Amino acid sequence: MQYILNSPHFGRGPAPEHTMELMVDQNAVVAAKGDTHKRLRAALNIGFTSSAVRNYQPIFERVAEKMTEQLSKCSGSLTDLYPILSRAALSAISEAVLGCSVRDLGEAFVANNERIVSLSSCQSSTQILVDAIASRLPKMVRGAVMYLPIAAFKVLRAVKSLADQIGRRAIAEKLAAAQQGANMRTDVFGMLYFVRLKSRHAVNPEQSDLKKNGLTEQELVAQTGILMIAGQDTVTNTLVFGCLELARHPEFQHQLRAEIHASRRGPLSTFAYETHWCPKETLRLYPPEAIHERITVQDTVIPLADGIKNSKGEVMNHIPVQKGQVVLVAIASYQRLQSRWGEDAHQFRPSRWVDGTIEQGQAVGPYANLLSFLGGPRVCLGWRFAILEMQVFFSELIGEFSFSLPEDDSLRTLYANMLILVTPSGEKAAPLYITRI
Ligand code: HEM
Repeated sequence: MQYILNSPHFGRGPAPEHTMELMVDQNAVVAAKGDTHKRLRAALNIGFTSSAVRNYQPIFERVAEKMTEQLSKCSGSLTDLYPILSRAALSAISEAVLGCSVRDLGEAFVANNERIVSLSSCQSSTQILVDAIASRLPKMVRGAVMYLPIAAFKVLRAVKSLADQIGRRAIAEKLAAAQQGANMRTDVFGMLYFVRLKSRHAVNPEQSDLKKNGLTEQELVAQTGILMIAGQDTVTNTLVFGCLELARHPEFQHQLRAEIHASRRGPLSTFAYETHWCPKETLRLYPPEAIHERITVQDTVIPLADGIKNSKGEVMNHIPVQKGQVVLVAIASYQRLQSRWGEDAHQFRPSRWVDGTIEQGQAVGPYANLLSFLGGPRVCLGWRFAILEMQVFFSELIGEFSFSLPEDDSLRTLYANMLILVTPSGEKAAPLYITRI
């Protein structure tokens, strides 16, 4: 997996490549390739370092409090967590990335964004098949297909155009804030715009590092759509699965609540959130992107850490792959390997993170040896952002509410481009009993 994710012999697979083409601006980091991708990543990273992300903590806390107000209205009843948690995740991104509230995004954008999220995470088998076939069509044909009067394509076109407008407005606001001497480093766009302004005022811009690191306004605007989409459903689903598992395991829920209440008695710092194991164990069992598709761009061999026996009984230490061959990185399977995570790898057991069950091996991903955020040059740009956000949200959710299962725990997991929770009839929903403590 490390080899596939880090080697230039593998590119993004045809189906995800097609999805990116449809969903985001061609200058978005996720669509960029080679040196352009490296440059955009380096520039954007300024807004996603550990210290940058700590600046967003007060935003996450404020959004979490609003989420509590909403959930409190449902106390004592069976409540679908999806709408409230999804709205909270969108608020966190719009405030911490763009510096504006969800209301400022406008109803049309919010409605379309929600539809795009459900398009990408709740596809039927037929839709997935159609996407896979469409992704094999020549690029020109794929571009033309986008203009067919199909409802899904209308949503995609609308989101692209609205994201562009919102991005432009955010940049205009940053410029006005800079002219008034306001602190700009409270959100991602503010930080990036600050770097851009500094680069323009550098004494010798051609030689300045800042010049190298800055984005053009057009490039900055182009990131709006992907940042708004990438962090909403991924975070929402992780929160939902975490609450579900804690409802299934009241002993862990009580333990986590006691830890949260104890940490609140001390000084409230980022450290207080770091003690929580909930995001780790949830991301291990339920990585939103369970399977990652790559395509071999040049004949190569994949080296194997542990040899495997082929049908002739011979031990193979590598697998040859040919140009054009699609390779699947089975993230969810890796994260349930007994050799790596213990005999009970299929169970939700947070103590594995502290009792020595997990051997420290070669790091495959950026966080806790998990591949949920992928690895290599395409590793999730927002992983630190997501972790702190989820730690704050889990603290609020478990600190303020108790969660229990409906009478029959018939909820199940469905993989439809992303792992989601569904009812027996296949409807995306997370009905749990919640009670305000
Ligand atoms: C639980 C939360 C999250 C998970 C599990 C997650 C996972 C991932 C994965 C697996 C990828 C690689 C996708 C691919 O190449 O096919 C990715 C890319 C990306 N993620 Fe995340 N993500 C999360 C939250 C976020 C957040 C909150 C943001 C931003 C605020 C974000 C921004 C991005 C961006 C911009 C990329 C594209 C990076 C590139 O192509 O260089 N993600 N994420």
